[in-house]
Amino acid sequence: MNKKTIRDIDWSGKRALVRVDFNVPLENGRITDDTRIRAALPTIQYLLDHGASVVLMSHLGRPKGKVVESERLAPVAARLSELLGRPVQAITATTGPEAEAAARSLQAGQVLMLENTRFDPREEQNDPAMAQELARLGDVFVNDAFGSAHRAHASTVGVAEHMPAAVAGFLLEKELAALGGLLEHPEHPFVAIMGGAKISDKIGVISRLLTLVDTLLIGGGMANTFLLAQGYNVGDSLVERDAVPQAREILAEAQRRNAEILLPTDVVIADAASATAPRRVVPADQVPDGWRILDIGPETVKTYAAKIAQAKTIFWNGPLGLFEIAPFAAGTHGIAEAVAQSGALSVIGGGDSVAAVEQMGLADRISHISTGGGASLEFLEGKELPGVAVLNDA
Ligand code: 3PG
Repeated sequence: MNKKTIRDIDWSGKRALVRVDFNVPLENGRITDDTRIRAALPTIQYLLDHGASVVLMSHLGRPKGKVVESERLAPVAARLSELLGRPVQAITATTGPEAEAAARSLQAGQVLMLENTRFDPREEQNDPAMAQELARLGDVFVNDAFGSAHRAHASTVGVAEHMPAAVAGFLLEKELAALGGLLEHPEHPFVAIMGGAKISDKIGVISRLLTLVDTLLIGGGMANTFLLAQGYNVGDSLVERDAVPQAREILAEAQRRNAEILLPTDVVIADAASATAPRRVVPADQVPDGWRILDIGPETVKTYAAKIAQAKTIFWNGPLGLFEIAPFAAGTHGIAEAVAQSGALSVIGGGDSVAAVEQMGLADRISHISTGGGASLEFLEGKELPGVAVLNDA
């Protein structure tokens, strides 16, 4: 990464204005996964240890420019305070006089958390006035929000343009190094596993991956669209009929490039997406009308696991089936197990596949778990991430 980082700044007596991605899952005000908060700790701790005070900005959820009580950042500030072992002051303003007064009164070693940036409709418009108001809250801008680096918003991009210095935090640096490694010098065989519901979101990254990988393993809802593109009956399965031509194009492209694409050869089907619905395993070309594909079958897991076992580099995004419902989790679990056992350099991106390895206690056997879903895919696709582009060059 050719960008300045927090190591390049003398922090003594400075106020760091830090964009983090604390967009964490909340249930009844309780944080169910604090990975993204933990991931920002090295940056926050470094700044505090080097004599700075810290003003944190983040979005949470998609409140669409209005105050949504259940998406306030106070519970996040409370969790951060526990993890840091020091107070974190949470205020209900994002910019304006209250935020400015709170920021001005900070002493070295103190931490302030602003309210959800997306409560302000100007955030997602990258509004220059909001960016300027945010810029008043600190001396140096730090972007450590890798998960939001693909969004050009006031708190990720606009603000940097109004500050004398804009540098990367350690999480941003670490993510770019891990994902950049996949693009620059992957050891082969390189196997990518793509799952999740939709192929339309992922066409760009799949096309790019075809230029990099030896084998692409497809599962999840998007596999149904590929099966349909091959002329199979998929019954009542979730499919994107509009994306069938694109799926065909990807299959043709793989053939031209000599990259192997594997589709499920057997599937778990049920007559409804429920744990109690009747279900069976059938060959992928024998899905009866009225039934739907909800997971890859055991034979497919075996084939995919054998490819994964031979890999030296792995990238995985998206679950292979409807893993939230136990009878349809075996595919995703089998793949998670295979990736953990592979000994390969493994990178996982995207909330659901990350949740699967974490639920299974396999996270410490994965080389890099990305905190960015959309951001990691856009990066791998080769798009410039606006939240990175705006930082000062090294
Ligand atoms: C994410 O969870 O991927 C990031 O926090 C970005 O959220 P968004 O998709 O709502 O912009």
